[in-house]
Amino acid sequence: MSKQGPGLFIAFEGGDGAGKSTQAARLAEALESRGLTVLRTREPGGTPIGEKLRSLVLDHGHGHIDAHTEALIFAASRAAHAAQVIRPALERGEIVLTDRYIDSSVAYQGAGRDLGEDAVRSLNEWATSGLQPHLTVLLDVDPAMGRQRRTAGNAAEDRLESEADEFHGRIRKAFLELAGRRSDSYLVLPAHLPIGELAATILARVDALLAALAVDSVGAVPSAAADGGGNP
Ligand code: TYD
Repeated sequence: MSKQGPGLFIAFEGGDGAGKSTQAARLAEALESRGLTVLRTREPGGTPIGEKLRSLVLDHGHGHIDAHTEALIFAASRAAHAAQVIRPALERGEIVLTDRYIDSSVAYQGAGRDLGEDAVRSLNEWATSGLQPHLTVLLDVDPAMGRQRRTAGNAAEDRLESEADEFHGRIRKAFLELAGRRSDSYLVLPAHLPIGELAATILARVDALLAALAVDSVGAVPSAAADGGGNP
């Protein structure tokens, strides 16, 4: 895996309706109030081409998209995102918060679409040249609760969201398995906890990580992940 610069890379993962965006926003606000430079981004998307790929893969109306095509579109969006947005920000010493990353593909396409973890993981490691988050925050949501939250106010569900609860149940299980294997680089939290409590727990974990990496200000991290291994 490749060198990934001196910044800090955090991914938010979880089922649809878990509240990832809310928590990413809260964390960004807390870190920015200390003068740290934070880049908030999302997948699929995050680049002009990624946003086009996002509508291709999520909007209804493009006809049937087979599972391999779907996995390749997410990976293509991620390749652009890693090369053009995440890696440059890490090289500038910034804190990157992404709403979804490789684990989403492993869970949705690997488990949900049954393409298998190994194939999806290797496709995505190739696409990102091995760029890995220092920390993944997994907000674990019950599929029924996720659906209730995301359809509140009559919001329309996208192509993936509108899959059955059984599909979302497989995804939930896959996320938890991934986190269980690497508990050192995951923070797993039940998504039903109060927003403020989740935000405080996430900030405490990020603070511990910042202290371990000695981040005092932007650009001051002494090679957080410059071990050539790509992992913290
Ligand atoms: P998301 O942006 O979280 O949805 P929203 O805009 O409603 O917050 O994600 C869009 C959908 O794409 C979501 O159902 C998960 C799915 N997805 C995958 O299936 N694979 C992936 O690799 C990614 C990044 C997302």
